[in-house]
Amino acid sequence: MIITIDGNAGSGKSTAARKLAGRLNIAYLDTGAMYRAIAWAALEHGVDFDDPEALAAIAREVSLEVDCGPTHTRVKIDGRDVTEAIRTMEVNRHTSAVARNQPIRDLLVEKQRQIGRHLGALVTEGRDQGSVVFPDADVKFVMEASLDKRTERRHAELVADGEEVDIAEVRRNLDSRDATDARQWAALYAPGAAIRIDTSHMSIAQVVDRLLAHIRQLKHGM
Ligand code: DC
Repeated sequence: MIITIDGNAGSGKSTAARKLAGRLNIAYLDTGAMYRAIAWAALEHGVDFDDPEALAAIAREVSLEVDCGPTHTRVKIDGRDVTEAIRTMEVNRHTSAVARNQPIRDLLVEKQRQIGRHLGALVTEGRDQGSVVFPDADVKFVMEASLDKRTERRHAELVADGEEVDIAEVRRNLDSRDATDARQWAALYAPGAAIRIDTSHMSIAQVVDRLLAHIRQLKHGM
């Protein structure tokens, strides 16, 4: 069974996807970590982020290993575990250039499909999972939350990571990324294409229960 969860930063999709995978005892794939790992590799090799060809070349040259299980996605670049190293503000800032690079997207999309084929069952989370990567997924979700709520969550996350950031800047950053991000899962807004969940007023436990209820309902209908 392939379950896709798409949505933007602060929608609560990462935690919910991981917890859902744990409850179902199937692997959890954080596809954002793959884009981040390529950004980390490009920084490590001193690649010019304004040079799309150089970026695509480094993505092809390095070896990216993805290990996913019910509670984790770990990423390695050339044998080095970078799972924690990809969470810095510096990697954050550079990942959008990687995510905009079509040859890199093609490479990572193929890798994600390989993982899906190999594992068979997966909760996969990102921006294009239900639209581009797994259009035939068994269950597709899109998670949403108000800009205020997402700002609050993202700010709390950054503070917990020891970053000093102004809440207004976090809001501006999320707001400016929304339009580009939303284009990636526009197809999922077609009637019946995906189940939309607004998490603005829900706890993580409530979100996971809601996801499980939909999955059970669909299984009974099969
Ligand atoms: O979800 P995240 O913040 O870890 O994602 C990191 C970046 O990668 C972000 O700019 C969105 C992008 N991304 C993407 O374009 N496609 C995906 N499937 C996952 C992430």
